[in-house]
Amino acid sequence: MLDSDSLKKTFIAEINATASLAELQQLRVKYLGKKGLLTSQLKSLPTLPAEERRLFGKAVNELKEFIEAEIASRESVLIEEDRRKRLAAEAIDVTLPGKYTLFGREHPINKVLREIIDVFVTMGFGVEEGPEVELDYYNFEALNMPKDHPARDMQDTFYITEDVMLRTHTSPVQIRVMEKKKPPLRFIAPGKVYRCDADISHTPMFHQVEGLMVDTDVSFSDLKGVLETFIHRIFSPETPVRFRPSFFPFTEPSAEVDIGCIFCKGRGCQICKTSGWLEILGAGMVNPHVFEMVGYDPEVYTGFAFGMGVERITMLKYSIDDIRLFYENDLRFLRQF
Ligand code: DAH
Repeated sequence: MLDSDSLKKTFIAEINATASLAELQQLRVKYLGKKGLLTSQLKSLPTLPAEERRLFGKAVNELKEFIEAEIASRESVLIEEDRRKRLAAEAIDVTLPGKYTLFGREHPINKVLREIIDVFVTMGFGVEEGPEVELDYYNFEALNMPKDHPARDMQDTFYITEDVMLRTHTSPVQIRVMEKKKPPLRFIAPGKVYRCDADISHTPMFHQVEGLMVDTDVSFSDLKGVLETFIHRIFSPETPVRFRPSFFPFTEPSAEVDIGCIFCKGRGCQICKTSGWLEILGAGMVNPHVFEMVGYDPEVYTGFAFGMGVERITMLKYSIDDIRLFYENDLRFLRQF
């Protein structure tokens, strides 16, 4: 016999305990499913005496309707609850402070390197590159520095084998380009160079920009004009420039180029060692011997060359007194550029 009341009570307790639509669905299957409690009750119907059948059937149907209605109303409650929870979770608190992205920026060395390249490119110079692992022939020999030449001592070299080294300057690119191309030539060669050296003004790796111009009538005044224009664009148009006699094996005559000290305006200070001048690059007219090494006729061609340190120029431009700051990756330093 159907105990309608106790089944109803159990059902009410169970439906009130459902906390999710999934649980409600389980409950629906438990009572109304093919093998559900009510369905199995109905199966016993044909075995009952005729007069009981009607009452029993009515009771089961009433219970079924009751359960269906309860499930439907519980369902709308749960759906509403679900929606409220989802909205609460998705809510955006517009009073919270925003998340901000830290933007990266160009490293000061790259920034100045790009400015230097720009200046020369606007003067019609091309840009060339060469390997950082270099042969003795290109780094020294073809630049008029044979083995045992004392000038090699000025550049403390990282040797890999006796004939292979990390290039100590960008000058070997001069040779590599002249071997491949015929004059007229006008290019710069920016890049990394390496020397076994480390202190407040030296790092084992640093950057140079080499320059070379070769034609049938290149003169020292062309060199002066190009370098003065360069200095006036990189520093300021009023910066005094002076060419001081010097020596490099690959140029003759050679010069070191100074600018009026930008710290004391030429009056003399600690940084310019009271001279009023700061050295910023080396230059000169290409040594005829170098032309011979690459098969150019020194009776036909003349040229000038120059080489500068990018770190040094950056330090002067921004009054930085320790070269190592460039490579410590301290954001407090790097964010100032
Ligand atoms: N290569 C030289 C150095 O690293 C710099 C230099 C001087 C390059 C004079 C030149 C030059 O092309 O003409 O010290």
